Amino acid sequence: MVHRHLPKLSDGEFRYLQQMMVEVSGIHMADSKRMLVAGRLMSRLRELDQGDFYEYVNFLRQPANQSERRLVIDLLTTNETYFFREPKHFDFLGEWVASQRGPIHLWSAASSSGEEAYSMAMTLAEHARTPHWSIFASDLSLRVLERARQAIYPLEQSAQFPAGWLQRHCLRGVGDHEGSFRIGQALRHRVAFAELNLMRDLPPEVGPFNVIFLRNVLIYFSNPDKRAIVERLVGRLRPGGLLFIGHAESLHGFPLPLRNVRPSVFERV
Ligand SMILES: C[S@@+](CC[C@H](N)C(=O)[O-])C[C@H]1O[C@@H](n2cnc3c(N)ncnc32)[C@H](O)[C@@H]1O
Repeated sequence: MVHRHLPKLSDGEFRYLQQMMVEVSGIHMADSKRMLVAGRLMSRLRELDQGDFYEYVNFLRQPANQSERRLVIDLLTTNETYFFREPKHFDFLGEWVASQRGPIHLWSAASSSGEEAYSMAMTLAEHARTPHWSIFASDLSLRVLERARQAIYPLEQSAQFPAGWLQRHCLRGVGDHEGSFRIGQALRHRVAFAELNLMRDLPPEVGPFNVIFLRNVLIYFSNPDKRAIVERLVGRLRPGGLLFIGHAESLHGFPLPLRNVRPSVFERV
């Protein structure tokens, strides 16, 4: 077996990447992430036929190489997600939407490759009493948004679906697509994906929403950034609407017009 030698990422080069990441996405990469970063960028060095990080970082620093900097952000963000992650949230969402009569607009605010937004869509399709509902889903990473729009996933990922939901809401792949499934067209049409950086001001046309999922992304931000992001999002949540955050996350100490109604679920007062 041939072991590829991993070129060294110097202190200065790593600091440049850390700073770029925090400036663009707000994400703090700890010093302990250096090897991980080098590993994730290796394939890019090979594609560009560059021998080491010195050359690559110099390339990134050139003002004209904006699209390459975007690509690095894409490669360095953590996009881990799965269907019905933190299932109690979806149980509660189902109960809550069943109690609503008016239109329901939902936002998956760090949607990654779409599993969260489509889990919301299936929950609404099963439980909403109104036919007037829609989901807006956004992320910083263009790579994951492309996958989300495709809506094709390996069949193993449907293991956590409630009984019958795969059959009712998805299409099983045949031929070349054996072993995968696609979210059905009716649900795909309910979900609109867009690129949106939570670190920036929100476009005026976003919202207002009845439900916002902001899960497993706050952990990457500094406290001031986290607070600013949550304030902006709460500004787009209707009174009586719900904000869901990840179970490992907290809004403790932020003076926000929110009431805790379930673990990591808040109602806008
Ligand atoms: C770990 S995934 C969480 C996905 C999903 N919400 C869940 O709970 O499974 C975090 C996502 O946040 C996105 N993200 C990171 N920083 C962001 C920012 N500043 N603006 C928008 N999205 C961001 C990443 O691209 C990634 O897809």
